Amino acid sequence: MAGQNFSILILAAGKATRFKSEHSKLLHRLAGRPLGEYILQAAQGAGPDCLYMMIGHEREEVRKAFERPGLTFIEQNEQLGTGHAVMMARPELEKCASPTVVVLVGDGPLLRSETLCDLVEAHLQARAACTILTARLENPTGYGRIVRAGSRVRAIVEEKDATPAQKKIREINSGILCFSRAQLLEHLEELSAENAQKEYLLTDLIEIFNRHRLKVAAFPVADSREVVGVNDRIELAQIEKLLRLRKAETLMRDGVTVVNPEATYIDPDVEAGQDTVIEPGASLLGRTRLGSACHVQSYCTITDSSLADRVTVRPCSVIANSEIASGVTIGPFAHLRDDAVIEENARIGNFVEVKKSRVGRGTKALHLTYLGDATLGENTNIGAGTVTCNYDGERKNPTVIEAGVFIGSGNMLVAPVRIGKSSYTAAGSTITEDVPPDSLAIARSRQVTRKGWAKDRGQAKMPTGKTTKV
Ligand code: UD1
Ligand code: CA
Repeated sequence: MAGQNFSILILAAGKATRFKSEHSKLLHRLAGRPLGEYILQAAQGAGPDCLYMMIGHEREEVRKAFERPGLTFIEQNEQLGTGHAVMMARPELEKCASPTVVVLVGDGPLLRSETLCDLVEAHLQARAACTILTARLENPTGYGRIVRAGSRVRAIVEEKDATPAQKKIREINSGILCFSRAQLLEHLEELSAENAQKEYLLTDLIEIFNRHRLKVAAFPVADSREVVGVNDRIELAQIEKLLRLRKAETLMRDGVTVVNPEATYIDPDVEAGQDTVIEPGASLLGRTRLGSACHVQSYCTITDSSLADRVTVRPCSVIANSEIASGVTIGPFAHLRDDAVIEENARIGNFVEVKKSRVGRGTKALHLTYLGDATLGENTNIGAGTVTCNYDGERKNPTVIEAGVFIGSGNMLVAPVRIGKSSYTAAGSTITEDVPPDSLAIARSRQVTRKGWAKDRGQAKMPTGKTTKV
């Protein structure tokens, strides 16, 4: 994207002390993605010559989560501060030819690639040794404060080191600093850990640069929300809310109705077509794709699934890894999973579970049914309470129900079994053998009716009102 040559170093080795977690902060999920993924995408999008990521805490897990072409990991074995992290990157930075290096904190997920490019541009124009991306915050607590002398920056003072007067400064360090590579490498080793944190703070370089009469500039970000850091789980939830709203707004601009954006959870990669309506409480997750004029009603969770046009999902349905064709109605309280495929205009009703099964065009399974490892043809009707008995204790077996079949209510279809085209099975049947086409299968014991039985029983009642045993 940028016309300038620069490299990016992302600091991500820290322990996330304020998160109080066993895991690296960057692996915690934010709006459906690991936190670190956001900064990585912003960095990649800016088009750096080289892209490095400092890792330390939980390094193997972090490496696995973020590995990609063009990204080099550098290990910081002891987390002795942001300045120390950059020291550990020295060998790589010496090899990299770019004259400019941007250092980023890994916990600022809202940063945009464009802002990084603008920062590099401003840095080169100012001919500065370092340019800090700054922001003005209503509440600057926790951030490093920018101590200025006119347009020049004299120092960044961390919260813990700040005097009461400095704490009142509302201009803060975003944690994103653009350096001339030569000056950075020349003065990096002058950092010391003599401060309230007992750490090597990268931000102390600003004072050091000033001492060497090197120019330090500030580049204020247009929208301060872009540089907020995620330091604890409260901030994680606040940013989650913001990202979710952003996603809902993007969809709304594209013609999707999101009835209550604050009560809807839509992951960043989800797509939805025009005139689709998403009701409150719905969660659309992963790589879910919805066509146009779909209606996702309250409290549905749809994960990694594709819905074609005019699909209605009624309340409290759960759909995962499934494919649904146009005009289908699902739910309420339906569960589709593991490659369920529902063809055009089929209807899946309440308390119906469909697993690894294909349901043909126009077929109906409307009440209390389990379809597992089954293939259903077109225009078949599955009676209430039907179960494909697919598991024999050792393996899963297939059920095939051909087109135009009528399965009576309360059937047990003991797989492997095949019901031929246009056949009927009687209500309450336990079908253990294949049924040929155009037949009726009745597989239940005959009814026995004992006439007058109840009356006789009534006469046998004891005087106390108790009955004798039958
Ligand atoms: C940092 C800045 C502060 C700025 C704020 C913006 C410093 C000293 N302070 O503070 O001025 O306002 O970000 O969000 O830079 N890390 C390492 N190795 C370490 C220590 C940290 O890689 O030894 C990484 C962390 O994983 C994290 C980043 O550096 O991604 C920043 O560390 P953090 O502790 O969050 O710094 P802040 O106190 O927020
Ligand atoms: Ca931080």
